[in-house]
Amino acid sequence: MIEYRPLRVALLGAGSVGAQVARLLLENKAELAARVGAELELVGIAVRNLDSKRADGVPAELLTTDAESLILGADIVIEVMGGLEPARTYILQALNSGADVVTANKALLATHGTELFDTAEQVGAQLYFEAAVAAAIPIIRPLRESLAGDTVTRIMGIVNGSTNYILDRMDSAGLTLEQAMAEATELGYLEADPTLDIEGIDASQKAAILASLAFHTEVPLDKVYREGITKITAEQMIAAKRDGYVIKLLAICERIAANEDHEDGVSVRVYPALIPREHPLGAVRGAFNAVFVEAVAAGSLMFYGAGAGGVQTASAILGDLVSAAKRHVAGGPGLADSVHANLPVLPIDAVNTRYQITLETSDAPGVLAKVASIVADGGVSIETVEQNADDKDTATIEIGTHEATDAALTAVVNHLAASEVVESIISVLRVEGI
Ligand code: NDP
Ligand code: HSE
Repeated sequence: MIEYRPLRVALLGAGSVGAQVARLLLENKAELAARVGAELELVGIAVRNLDSKRADGVPAELLTTDAESLILGADIVIEVMGGLEPARTYILQALNSGADVVTANKALLATHGTELFDTAEQVGAQLYFEAAVAAAIPIIRPLRESLAGDTVTRIMGIVNGSTNYILDRMDSAGLTLEQAMAEATELGYLEADPTLDIEGIDASQKAAILASLAFHTEVPLDKVYREGITKITAEQMIAAKRDGYVIKLLAICERIAANEDHEDGVSVRVYPALIPREHPLGAVRGAFNAVFVEAVAAGSLMFYGAGAGGVQTASAILGDLVSAAKRHVAGGPGLADSVHANLPVLPIDAVNTRYQITLETSDAPGVLAKVASIVADGGVSIETVEQNADDKDTATIEIGTHEATDAALTAVVNHLAASEVVESIISVLRVEGI
């Protein structure tokens, strides 16, 4: 039964996501009203250019370039403009005017999240952002609510669809990075600025958001260690496949226990890594996303689905809209996130990982022993070693290490590179998921 007054919804943006939000909101108006207990009235849609061609389902009479007036009269503001400004200013205006806000803007949350959440808390408004990480996949709400009574220890995710598509095409079709990128561009998978995807920036923004929720800790973007996929070669892909691995761009957030070098902390990092082909993340193909969560009581959980796309992202936005609207109807303060743990975000040096190192060496007596002694002198233990002498002067040596700190492993690689028996370092990749 609908007894509450209609709720005024302002939409900022009518691009790939916004147009689908408008369409679904209008098409499903009666059903949404029944679920919420109040009509959701789309009062206007702010855009940059009134003359741009719009997708079907965006009523021309609702379009405006006056975002500020739209925000002032709204109960709930949906921000799907993207970018830092004016999105930040508009969200602050909305919160300060008492409106709840739904946003898909991971770049903004990863950069100005603290300011936005603090403002929301001060004014008693809510900020919802399910669509900001992995689009249609419910991952924010599970971390904020379902796992709120558990202790999350680790998150390992494929949270950038376009780079997963590129790496998958290199793996499955033998394409070079350039060929796979050209395909991803053609399909419209890459951001307007593709460096956001291929340099791991988009993934590191999402990792910062996930880590701050999972560990109740503020995670500034500049504390997220980041390597992109631009140095991944077709040869590394072939070698990975031969060894039973696949290369994936991983976002990893984990708790790290104190030792003699540091206190309890967290690590948040993004890099391409080898994972066993049979690992659940190894099976994530094409532009799909997946997030693997480990918690003390729940054990291992996997969340999988579409990590991008206008209508898929709109699904997450509408879920948040319904939550925000129900809060208006029911009253009460709603959710507040906490950063009470305030754990330090540790540098990459403190992380324990494994390396797979491939070297080209001179092919002479004692070379393998020399290489092994450099690794051992660095305090790193070798797990596997394989040597191939392809021509008469040089050999290829592939070393798989046991777990060691990233600092120790990096130092070993530097010593190997400086050794007179090493002609070149062909490949260095971390190994995860073992
Ligand atoms: P688009 O570029 O397709 O759309 C942006 C919209 O915002 C356009 O309608 C544009 O107006 C409007 N806009 C931009 N700047 C202003 C401004 N200053 N004032 C008023 N309107 C403005 O972006 P997307 O729909 O792809 O993405 C929106 C958000 O969703 C981003 O934060 C993105 O990161 C996030 N997201 C997107 C996903 C996707 O698959 N696309 C997936 C997950 C999250 P006009 O049309 O007139 O130019
Ligand atoms: N560029 C992003 C991706 C879009 O490839 O996953 C969704 O956030």
